[in-house]
Amino acid sequence: RGGALWGGRFASGPSPELERLSRSTHFDWQLAQYDIAGSRAHAAALASAGLLDPDELTGMLAALDALSADVDAGAFRAEPSDEDVHSALERGLIERAGAELGGKLRAGRSRNDQIATLVRLLLRDHAATITGQLVDLIDSIAAQADRHFGAIMPGRTHLQHAQPVLLAHHLLAHAWPLVRDIERLADWGRRADSSPYGSGALAGSTLGLDAQQVAHDLGFSRVVENSIDGTASRDLVAEFAFVSAQIGVDLSRFAEDIIIWNTREFGFVTLHDGYSTGSSIMPQKKNPDIAELARGKSGRLIGNLAGLLATLKGLPLAYNRDLQEDKEPVFDSIETLEVLLPAFTGMVATLSFDTDRMRELAPQGFSLATDIAEWLVARGVPFRDAHELSGACVRAAEARGGDLDVLTDADFAAISPLLTPEVKSVLTIEGSVGSRDNAGGTAPVRVREQLAALTARVRDI
Ligand code: ARG
Repeated sequence: RGGALWGGRFASGPSPELERLSRSTHFDWQLAQYDIAGSRAHAAALASAGLLDPDELTGMLAALDALSADVDAGAFRAEPSDEDVHSALERGLIERAGAELGGKLRAGRSRNDQIATLVRLLLRDHAATITGQLVDLIDSIAAQADRHFGAIMPGRTHLQHAQPVLLAHHLLAHAWPLVRDIERLADWGRRADSSPYGSGALAGSTLGLDAQQVAHDLGFSRVVENSIDGTASRDLVAEFAFVSAQIGVDLSRFAEDIIIWNTREFGFVTLHDGYSTGSSIMPQKKNPDIAELARGKSGRLIGNLAGLLATLKGLPLAYNRDLQEDKEPVFDSIETLEVLLPAFTGMVATLSFDTDRMRELAPQGFSLATDIAEWLVARGVPFRDAHELSGACVRAAEARGGDLDVLTDADFAAISPLLTPEVKSVLTIEGSVGSRDNAGGTAPVRVREQLAALTARVRDI
């Protein structure tokens, strides 16, 4: 009866409808090599416990090596009668080692502790891949910040002109969340560094197997403290899906900036031809599809997290088959990010910025009004009054149909004798940006330090 792992108490095999519903090999096959690695470690633990003699261990490992090579070559594949990757690989092992030896491997383990362990192994590898891709993206942001270091742009709140900022400062504001995402993955990795192998179905095993040895062989530092928790919890999978969703959200916010900057109205950036798309009907079009896909895929990443949490909510201990539903969402999140991140990095690395356009717009929209108020405060005026006076300057300029630069010395004096001609010294975007030199501020001297700090932080990853 195919690869079924039970039979003794069953008078009939599974119905075709059940087989179809139950089958997971189309998505859990990517765990095959992790399953075989787990089997190697488990065979060694069986041998240490005296449950496999040295010849049997040698034969078992040889059969697992052959199976591993056949999996890689595509010579061994799942059959429709195989329920999941574990049952398929047991079938493959028995085909290679014989029923007598091959049938010994299952002692003291369950697919419940296997699957919980293998998913951790897979997620750990992808955490490393995604971390590397995030580092590449951060590097490309840092390189653009460095390349356009002196450029000044309109900083916005509520999407309205607020205060001028360095383009580098704005770009780096998209890098720091990604640094925190990398730190989230590293922190997740510390929690995921414990092996459920040996938890069995839920209660552990009578066979005296050394779970620490298995953990060590698989690259884990320790063994889970509780076999029920080890087999039934999926918070680590959900947490991985959360970090993936957060990365998606961080990318989508950057993407939205790029989409807006790329409009004719903003005109801040031009996309490289290799990282933008055309239209099938409108010959002039050059669309920011990578940014739009990043924005769109963030919804999918959030959905994967929400779906997984919904699956876990209210599940009784210990293992329930519902838990099989953890894999497709998190595998999809991984695939989504690993395809998206390199494209996003290419788009960012090849963005060309129209810094003249940014510079022209930076002082517009009365974006230097706060500088007038703070200039007054530095001369002893209470901020409440300074705010009023600066607001009066905006009103006067607006009545004139212009920006703050239309105001003459006489205009300022008419608003308040406190507004001496020296006020004009802060009415330049360089002066405005340069004077915001607090820690984390947009002054070039601080942004230089910030860039160095970012580079150092990424180098330490
Ligand atoms: N394919 C299952 C999963 O992914 C394997 C776990 C064990 N199955 C079982 N019926 N106990 O969760």
